[in-house]
Amino acid sequence: MNVITIKQESIMEIKDAKVFHDYLNGVIEGEDVKKSTKLYADAKTFYSSVDPSISDDQIMYEVYSYEHDGLCYGLTVMQPVCVNGECNVTRGHFHENLDCDEIYCGMGGEGLLLLMDEDYHCHAEKVKCGSVHYIDGHLAHRLVNTGNCELKVQCMWPSHAGHDYKRVEEHPFAVRVFKKNGELKVEEE
Ligand SMILES: [Fe+2]
Repeated sequence: MNVITIKQESIMEIKDAKVFHDYLNGVIEGEDVKKSTKLYADAKTFYSSVDPSISDDQIMYEVYSYEHDGLCYGLTVMQPVCVNGECNVTRGHFHENLDCDEIYCGMGGEGLLLLMDEDYHCHAEKVKCGSVHYIDGHLAHRLVNTGNCELKVQCMWPSHAGHDYKRVEEHPFAVRVFKKNGELKVEEE
């Protein structure tokens, strides 16, 4: 292993990064990093039915985000929880500014990136460690955790993209993914 020791710091300033993405533990830490937690109590409308066996304080997913000068960097960590057999999903959104694209990158676990065009037709891409997904700004997007462990997905988007959740509530994703006897089943609503 090559070890490079930098001795001449007086020639130029060398700083530590202000933000650190801990890939192994699935957290982003540092200055100005925001973290939000979505509990089941606040996510019941995301699924096709309410599951009384899941407690309201069950964490469904956490989102870390770091914004600087017009660019955002984020991480979504989704729990492998099924709601009456339906795989865990994020809320999903269109961007308020449809000209703003986004990149997702799988960091761990297995899932689907569900995409819906402006005619409300859906398609999906498989998400796994290392998969890179370019999301056109005109597509609504939602993650589905289809695996048995946390699904971790890194995201990068322009700050002014915004989140239009209302449009997805008015025109929900037409497909849902269920896990039955260990097998995935996609159902149309
Ligand atoms: Fe987005």
